[in-house]
Amino acid sequence: MALVLALATTFISILQSPFLWQSVPDPLLGIQNEGPSASSFVNLFIGTANNGHVFPGATLPHGMVKVGMDTNSRNNQAGYDADPKYSVTGFSQLHDDGTGDRASLSNFKIFPTAGCPAFELCETSVFKRPVLRAILPDGTPDDLGKPGYFSTNLSTGVRAELTATRRASLQRYTFQPDVDGSLPRINVDITNDGQRSGNSPTLSIDPLTGRVTGGAVFQASFGPRQYKAYTCVDFRLVSSSDPLLLRAPPAEYGTWSRNGPVLNEVGNNLRKCAVRIASSRTQMFLLVSYGEVGALLGFQPPNTTAPTTILVRSGVSFISEKQACDNADSEIPDFGFDRVAREAQKEWDELLGRIRVTLGEGQEDTRELLYSSLYRTHISPADYSEENPLWNSTEPYYDSFYCNWDTYRTMFPLLAMHDPERFALIVRGMISIQQHEGWLPECRGATSLQYIQGGSDGEPIVAEFYVKFFEYAASMNVSSEKMYEALLADAENEPKNADLQGRLATMWKEYSYIPKDGHTPGGSLAPRSVSRALEYAFSDFTISQVAKLLNRTEDAVKYAGRAGNFVNHWNPETTMPDGPSSVRGMMQPRLKNGSFSYTDPRHCSPHAPPRSGTCYFSAGDLTGFYEGSPLLYSQYAPHDTAKLIELQGGPTTFIERLDFIIDNDYFDVTDEPGQQVPFMYHYADRPGLSTNRTRQTLELFFNTTVAGLPGNDGTVEHSGAMGSYAFFVLAGLYPLPATRQLLLSSPYFPSISFFNPLFNAKATIKVTNFEGANSTKIFVQDVLVDGQPWHSRCFIEWDVFERGSTVEITLTDDITLPCGDSPNALPPSLSTGGYD
Ligand SMILES: *[C@@H]1O[C@H](CO)[C@@H](O)[C@H](O)[C@H]1NC(C)=O
Ligand SMILES: *[C@@H]1O[C@H](CO)[C@@H](O)[C@H](O)[C@H]1NC(C)=O
Ligand SMILES: *[C@@H]1O[C@H](CO)[C@@H](O)[C@H](O)[C@H]1NC(C)=O
Ligand SMILES: *[C@@H]1O[C@H](CO)[C@@H](O)[C@H](O)[C@H]1NC(C)=O
Ligand SMILES: *[C@@H]1O[C@H](CO)[C@@H](O)[C@H](O)[C@H]1NC(C)=O
Ligand SMILES: *[C@@H]1O[C@H](CO)[C@@H](O)[C@H](O)[C@H]1NC(C)=O
Ligand SMILES: *[C@@H]1O[C@H](CO)[C@@H](O)[C@H](O)[C@H]1NC(C)=O
Ligand SMILES: *[C@@H]1O[C@H](CO)[C@@H](O)[C@H](O)[C@H]1NC(C)=O
Ligand SMILES: *[C@@H]1O[C@H](CO)[C@@H](O)[C@H](O)[C@H]1NC(C)=O
Repeated sequence: MALVLALATTFISILQSPFLWQSVPDPLLGIQNEGPSASSFVNLFIGTANNGHVFPGATLPHGMVKVGMDTNSRNNQAGYDADPKYSVTGFSQLHDDGTGDRASLSNFKIFPTAGCPAFELCETSVFKRPVLRAILPDGTPDDLGKPGYFSTNLSTGVRAELTATRRASLQRYTFQPDVDGSLPRINVDITNDGQRSGNSPTLSIDPLTGRVTGGAVFQASFGPRQYKAYTCVDFRLVSSSDPLLLRAPPAEYGTWSRNGPVLNEVGNNLRKCAVRIASSRTQMFLLVSYGEVGALLGFQPPNTTAPTTILVRSGVSFISEKQACDNADSEIPDFGFDRVAREAQKEWDELLGRIRVTLGEGQEDTRELLYSSLYRTHISPADYSEENPLWNSTEPYYDSFYCNWDTYRTMFPLLAMHDPERFALIVRGMISIQQHEGWLPECRGATSLQYIQGGSDGEPIVAEFYVKFFEYAASMNVSSEKMYEALLADAENEPKNADLQGRLATMWKEYSYIPKDGHTPGGSLAPRSVSRALEYAFSDFTISQVAKLLNRTEDAVKYAGRAGNFVNHWNPETTMPDGPSSVRGMMQPRLKNGSFSYTDPRHCSPHAPPRSGTCYFSAGDLTGFYEGSPLLYSQYAPHDTAKLIELQGGPTTFIERLDFIIDNDYFDVTDEPGQQVPFMYHYADRPGLSTNRTRQTLELFFNTTVAGLPGNDGTVEHSGAMGSYAFFVLAGLYPLPATRQLLLSSPYFPSISFFNPLFNAKATIKVTNFEGANSTKIFVQDVLVDGQPWHSRCFIEWDVFERGSTVEITLTDDITLPCGDSPNALPPSLSTGGYD
């Protein structure tokens, strides 16, 4: 009880915290961020071209509704493509961010139709209606975005502006006066999501108010299942002579199927349709079994010689049309576009403002990279609370875990540093999913189970929360008992379909590795066997970390033991064809009888021999590896790098291998199992090499252009995985989930601070002799924590962030300095004493 009260006080004090709203100029530390407007440092368009699949539209932090522009690009997974050669197909309410596979969501496109001479002649089909954007003199499209707001000018002269609350969007369309007298019209598309998968649609128009309600069944993006979604759209004309909003019936309305709008009528141009007139005479319902379906409404301009502005408000729900209407009515009762946009920006400012940096000369661009990366860690997962069609519960419901395999490594650790309340809600939602479905979510989208890539990676996320916040879990309504039950269920219980949830638990327990010739519960051979096993080992490590904190000593020992099982896939004899002889020993698939099978260590890399199997998700691929070569996976046991060093013949050959991997393109930062590779020199007592390699990675692959995300091969932002990774490199830190240590490198800035509202504490990392990010003086020499000498150049403790400590770093140009003299200067590893 006392803790709950203390927490409430903390929340109030956040709002009043001067740290968030005022800048405190420090003349010693260069230029201070100005005022509260952290969101003004965000560039939403980074990664919106060249396969980045980043969502640049309007959303609240982790909002369910993400309203944005959709284009007819092949790379419109998040709807948008920055390349102006692609045309606009509409502005839809739901998106994910930086995902691969089939375009997800992009449901319920609103499209402003200008310049068609008569209702029946309007192009309504998603294939016929697209228009280009206006192009600026520099050749870029006339699009603008900032947190909570997006706008564009179309080549038809229509300006579109978008903003959002959690479950509704508000869109403002401004049409030029039309010389031919054609009406401004709005198309509400019910069925064309990103995959054009909508089926079994419902649609009704209320001719008196213009309200359009509808819904359909859609195909999930990276999974076999379908989901239902609903929308409710209302309109208001804005009259320049009358500042009050005008509630007007539409001048025209009708439904359309494919390219055929029918004025005042529904159904007569549709095959296989059933029309019924509802009890209210103003309501018409239309049910069709397939095809494109939508509504078209025209509005009489209040002033035919002035531009006409139409506000379009769209509520969305996964439960019902009625709930979609209720969401819009309750969240945006006033159609107040500027109010909604202002409130969204304020929420972003407060959240992003928890991180502060001071700048050296010319570092505005680096700051933009930092805040834009931070921004993208707050798009997914999304808060679908009260929108869960699967069961009723008062617990939060989060969705859009797409996928935890991507995000557990850096995104959730970044959330822990500055957004523990959100993290707690997400974890409660995950535990609730486990209680209802049996397993923690791994990959999930639009309320559907999606495919598991490697391990059961809900565990490291839940464990990360607990290891960082165990003393506060109860006060944040996270039940330790249910949390632990959920972890053990994942680790121990065999699911019916281990491609959708859980693990191949029986095999893992029986063999202590995943045999390539072992059968899944569904009866097929297990693809991705090595990738799975290595992830299981790490997840078991995270469970052992939690078990220790719960004083469940036996379990802690048991899961730490299982965490060591990654060695069972280590074949000490495998060598690198055409590689240096020092690179010997590799992760390899294994058979049930114990023999190793052989997968070429170059498989799943740019040097893969022809026909060596696929690197991507495929049920029939038995090479054992997913998104990473056996060589890359030879560096994957993040909880026990000391053991990897031992297996590889000691620090010198280990470093040679890291160099070989990076210099020969075996490292691709977008393949998550290798993310930690440039930081791993720390464990070989050469932190300077990590500083060099991580900065090299950042500078080569991340920048503030629309193409500024790594990978040109369908590799993407991954729901915040890349953003949080770039953030950590810029901050000079690297986390290991479910531990209380962070690797230390040097920040790009003279100082960076982290405000954590739960602790009401601000931790600061300062460089005492900052000479610029491009200086040769970038290697850590001395570390003071709260004025006291710290025993390691290689890591700091979570206590720094809990207490709000100041870490002062002095830099040198000497790349050779080791972690330190003391025996515990090296970062921890499981086999050399663990993480206590
Ligand atoms: C679009 O046009 C309007 C009015 O002409 C202008 O104010 C705005 O800056 C333009 N660009 C965007 C992205 O809204
Ligand atoms: C209509 O718009 C024109 C151009 O903006 C303006 O001059 C005129 O006063 C408006 N008429 C009315 C009735 O508001
Ligand atoms: C640092 O170097 C990068 C790349 O070489 C360059 O773009 C940037 O302008 C430089 N920054 C400063 C502050 O000199
Ligand atoms: C949730 O509760 C509502 C209202 O009682 C009910 O209509 C609905 O069917 C329930 N949903 C589920 C999935 O049980
Ligand atoms: C925890 O739950 C209690 C009881 O439902 C509630 O009063 C309190 O506000 C919750 N605290 C948090 C941080 O969610
Ligand atoms: C575990 O034991 C320690 C030491 O006795 C104690 O301080 C702590 O509260 C215990 N934790 C739990 C969750 O029981
Ligand atoms: C295991 O099975 C494989 C394939 O059948 C065979 O080649 C190998 O010799 C067997 N190993 C042992 C130790 O029996
Ligand atoms: C890393 O070291 C190499 C070789 O000494 C050097 O050329 C490069 O500039 C360094 N990169 C960074 C980012 O420090
Ligand atoms: C920006 O990053 C992309 C993707 O990594 C890269 O292809 C491009 O060359 C970089 N551009 C600049 C100007 O550094």
